[in-house]
Amino acid sequence: MSEHDRKKWDAKYADVDEVGAAGENDWLTQQVQNIQPGRALDLACGLGANAILLAQWGWTVTAIDISPVGLQIAARSAAAAGVQVDWQAADLETWEPPAATFDLVTVFRYLDREQLPQQIQVALKPGGTLLYETFVEGPNNTVGGHVRNPAFILQSDELPTLFPKLEVIEYSEIQVGDHYVARLRSQKPAP
Ligand SMILES: C[S@@+](CC[C@H](N)C(=O)[O-])C[C@H]1O[C@@H](n2cnc3c(N)ncnc32)[C@H](O)[C@@H]1O
Repeated sequence: MSEHDRKKWDAKYADVDEVGAAGENDWLTQQVQNIQPGRALDLACGLGANAILLAQWGWTVTAIDISPVGLQIAARSAAAAGVQVDWQAADLETWEPPAATFDLVTVFRYLDREQLPQQIQVALKPGGTLLYETFVEGPNNTVGGHVRNPAFILQSDELPTLFPKLEVIEYSEIQVGDHYVARLRSQKPAP
């Protein structure tokens, strides 16, 4: 399954216009601005735009994705931006997280209900923050045109339930263009 995913994403990223690889992220910007920079982990980082933003804001960033082709583009974008990121090619279906290591974990546009919640629970330091944004079904079970595989689409109010040991700080579901996203900010309780 993951080998299939790697080939799919490698092929997709091989066609990318690298000039457009970096980007802005208003929600990430707004959420992170009041957190003291520390160690951040971006899971399924793709072309690395969010990891690069975090590095530009002073975070020490590890970014993981299954696609080496995407990570090569990400590394070139980081070099062009003058920042360093620890890019790691790994399959999140089998990746073993380091324990209590990250002050911040970010996930954008990736969903795995089986492994990811436990991996994030382990990787976060006590008091650490999770920022998670991905596709959710819209009103009346409608799904926007952006993603069609239901395995990758959250049900309404599902995202916080995947992290029962984290404290929900903010949760919302909003329409962005032709699709809907769920946005979760939660925190690992400090001892
Ligand atoms: C929709 S893209 C999102 C990329 C990035 N987070 C963003 O928002 O631009 C999904 C990413 O998940 C990665 N991915 C898919 N399956 C994976 C797996 N098993 N392990 C690690 N990464 C995976 C893909 O390579 C792709 O970069």
